[in-house]
This record gives sequence, structure tokens and C-alpha cells, in this order.
Amino acid sequence: MTMQKTNFAEETLDPADWAATRALAHRMIDDAIDHLDGVRKRPLWQEMPASVQDSLAEPVPEGPQPLEHVYSSITANLMPHPMGNIHPRFWMWYMGAGNFTGAMGDFLAAIDGSNLGGGNMAAAQIDRQVTGWIRDIMGFPQESSGTLVTGGSMANIIGLMAARNAMAGVDLRQLGVDAMPQPLRFYASDQVHNCHFKAMNLLGLGKGSLSIVPSNEQFRLNIGALKDQIISDRDKGSKPACVIATAGTTNTGSIDDLTAIADLCAKEGVWMHVDGCIGALIAIAPKNRHLVAGIERADSLALDLHKGLHAPFDVGCALVRDRRQHRLTFAEDAEYLQKASRGIAAAEFLHDYNLDTSRGFRALKIWMMLKEHGVEKFGRLIDQGIGQAHYLTERITRESLLELMAPTVIDVVCFRYNPGRLDEGALRDLNIEVMLRLQEFGIAAVSDTTIHGHHCLRAAICNHRTRRADLDLLVQETLRIGGDLVVTPKAKAAIG
Ligand SMILES: Cc1ncc(COP(=O)(O)O)c(C=O)c1O
Repeated sequence: MTMQKTNFAEETLDPADWAATRALAHRMIDDAIDHLDGVRKRPLWQEMPASVQDSLAEPVPEGPQPLEHVYSSITANLMPHPMGNIHPRFWMWYMGAGNFTGAMGDFLAAIDGSNLGGGNMAAAQIDRQVTGWIRDIMGFPQESSGTLVTGGSMANIIGLMAARNAMAGVDLRQLGVDAMPQPLRFYASDQVHNCHFKAMNLLGLGKGSLSIVPSNEQFRLNIGALKDQIISDRDKGSKPACVIATAGTTNTGSIDDLTAIADLCAKEGVWMHVDGCIGALIAIAPKNRHLVAGIERADSLALDLHKGLHAPFDVGCALVRDRRQHRLTFAEDAEYLQKASRGIAAAEFLHDYNLDTSRGFRALKIWMMLKEHGVEKFGRLIDQGIGQAHYLTERITRESLLELMAPTVIDVVCFRYNPGRLDEGALRDLNIEVMLRLQEFGIAAVSDTTIHGHHCLRAAICNHRTRRADLDLLVQETLRIGGDLVVTPKAKAAIG
């Protein structure tokens, strides 16, 4: 095929000088490796100085500048001021710590450039292979379906939307929620993640359709109360549609009794959805997999692969047991998106299983990471984090000034600095100040929460770089900062 020459200037985004671009790209890779290799030596987090804030508030660049200049702003402004979650002592919100292979996967996915809305190409095949792997490691049947999405919130929306449409009693896609013969009720414990409220809003059911069932002293959904609620709702004319069980709650890491919930859902004809964003992948951890027994019985399951597998953000996965129902919930026909018998459109559209049309190639990073390390290593890393959480728990219980606030089940530890003689409000102020100083001194990041009415600090050890000595340092520095705050008048003033 020969191309005709034109005599007007046509532009492209490809570099004018590939050799110079190659040299710069090599430098970026070298810098990236140094950045990861040196992560432990840098402070976990530091406040951005005004110069950085100003530089990142510049107006839209109308004209060009060399890529080298653009990159120098990244090295000066971005890289020294990360969130900190790749640092070994980041245990704040439940997150993954990333990894180099996953980052290369994202880079190569962008270079491949495919749109994973669907198509007959290797990238789509890798996407199908990865969701098939997740299905297999979670013990879901071969006929079930899966889709990769942005994260846990979206994975939950996929499962809950399939549940709503399956249970609505009308063709909900066509007729909408107004046509439902009975209002639907969803159920979850008071420990459920707030993304489910967003989901109820999006699904047009409203937050009021989600019945909040109390949790017991172990922060697990109270099964007796759930049963009572289902019976009472049915008596009142509502349709019990879906129980949202949580495998790994955000506050304490507690795991609902999945087997009991599966039995109850089977008996009552209710859809069982599991929010496994924190805990589903414990199914691959040899020492702890018994904790999530029963998860394979769910009708739908949400997983977060940027958490449990430490894939770079963002990637989650939704599995649905009934592939037909999954597709029926999302697939829409369009004259401009027809499947063909040959060529690029000769394959099922992957966006028929989610809300997107265009989709990124998230699967590649997962595919590369799983192939490089093997699933077994990821299972051992999950066991390692849980082991570290139990180690921290033991350290806390040996210190008279630290108080364990919830049973440690997986890799989440709830505790507080408690010198005695302080009421709940003062304890809260004191612990918030401890938490902020740990962050501001660049030592460690923990978050705070309130469980059954008590404020506490929370360490979520979803971090493959953490070592037990890092947890020793957390204990030591919490005691030191807490002690300083309690004894110095200046510090006392800071906490009010
Ligand atoms: C139990 C649970 N569900 C859902 C989510 C939301 O996941 P994502 O942040 O990936 O959207 C989280 C986030 O931490 C979570 O802990």
C-alpha cells in the first residue's frame, strides 16, 4: 500500500525525534526504579510547600514545551509528594502498596492502546483470561461471568445492579423502578462500606431501601436480627431482594458468617452479594482461607485487586454466578456496535457486562503480576499481613497505655492511646493528634474511625513492604507522642 504525499502540514502526536524520546524514557524508567528502591529511606508523607502548590496551579499551557521540561516538573513536584501508600509504614485507609511489574503492565497496556470495550484481539483475550482466573481462584462455577472495573465501589454496583434486576419482578431495564410490583429491600450490617449507599442512590432504590442490621460484639452481621427483618419486611409487603455480606469490614476487618448468610438466602430465595473488597482474596491464603468459607456460594461478589493483589490503581472485579442475568442487566444493542463474523468485531463485547463503553486494559497488569509471582505468593503475602496484624495486636496488649478496641481477625487492628482518666471526647482529641503527628513527622500513617461508639486508631496492614520492625516503631512512636501530649502543657493545649 503506498501513501500519497500531501503538500500541507499535517501533525501528529508522535515525537519528532524518537532517539531523544528513547533516551528520556530510559531516564524515566531509571528514576522510577530508584524511586521504588529508595522508598523506605524517604519520609512517608510531607506537606507540599507553596512553591509546589503554585507550580501545580499554572493555567492551561497553550503552547508547547519540551517533554524534558514537563518531566522535570514531575521529578520536582509530584514524586516528592506522594500519598505515601507505597511506603512500608502506610496502614491508613485500606489500600494496596502497588508494585513495579503492575506499573509496567499499565505502561504496556497504554502502548498496546486497545479499547477493552471489546473486540477480537489479544488484549480482550487477556481480559477474559484474567476474569476467568479470578473466577477459578474464588471457586465460582465455570459458567459464571466476571468483569474488571475501576475498583470495589464499581464492582459492588455491578453485583447489586444484577441483583436488583434479577429480583425486581418486572423487566426493570425497560420499565424502570416505578413498575416494580413491590418495593425491594436490601440488607447489610451497620459495618457496611458507604459505597453501598451510593449504589442504592444510583440504582434508584434510595438509601432507605438498604436495611441496616446491627452487628454483634465481633462486628459481624447479627443473623437472628437479619432473619427477623426479612420476615417483618415480607409481612409489610416489601420484597426481600438481596443480602450484602461483607468479607472484611472496613472498620475492623470482621467477616460476616458467609455460610449462615448463604443458607438463609437459599432458604428465603434472596440474592446473596458479598462485598469482598478487603477479604475475598483471603480465599487464596493457605493459613486463613477458612475465614471466608462460603464465599463461593455468593450470587455476586466484589473484589478489589488494587488492594489484595497490590495492583497499581485502579482495578476491581465483579463476579456474577448467573452469566445470563449479568449480561441481561447491562447489554444494550446499537447499530454502530454490531458483532461481525470475522475481523475486529468478531467477539462478544466486554462492555456488555458493565456500565462502560470504552474500557482500559486493566487486565494486563494483573496478568503480568500473576504470571510473574504465581497466585501462591499472593496468598502467602495475605497471610503475612494477617500475621503482622496479630503481632501488632500482641504488642498493643502488652503495653498498659495502649488499648485494643476490636478483636483482630485479619489485617486490620483497632487500638488507641489511653493514659486513663480521660473521657471519650478527650481520648478522641488525643488520638487524633497522635495520628496527625505520626503523619506529619513522616513516620507512619494510620487512620481513625469510630466503632460501636468508641473512637480509635486503625492500622490496615495491606502492605507487602511492611516488616515487623515497622510495627515496633509504630508502637514506640505512638507511646512517645502520646506521652509527650499528655505531659507537656503546650501539647495539652494542642489537644484542647
Ligand atoms: C469493604 C469495602 N468495600 C468497598 C470499598 C470501596 O472500594 P474502592 O475504594 O476500590 O472503590 C472499600 C474500600 O476500602 C471497602 O473497604
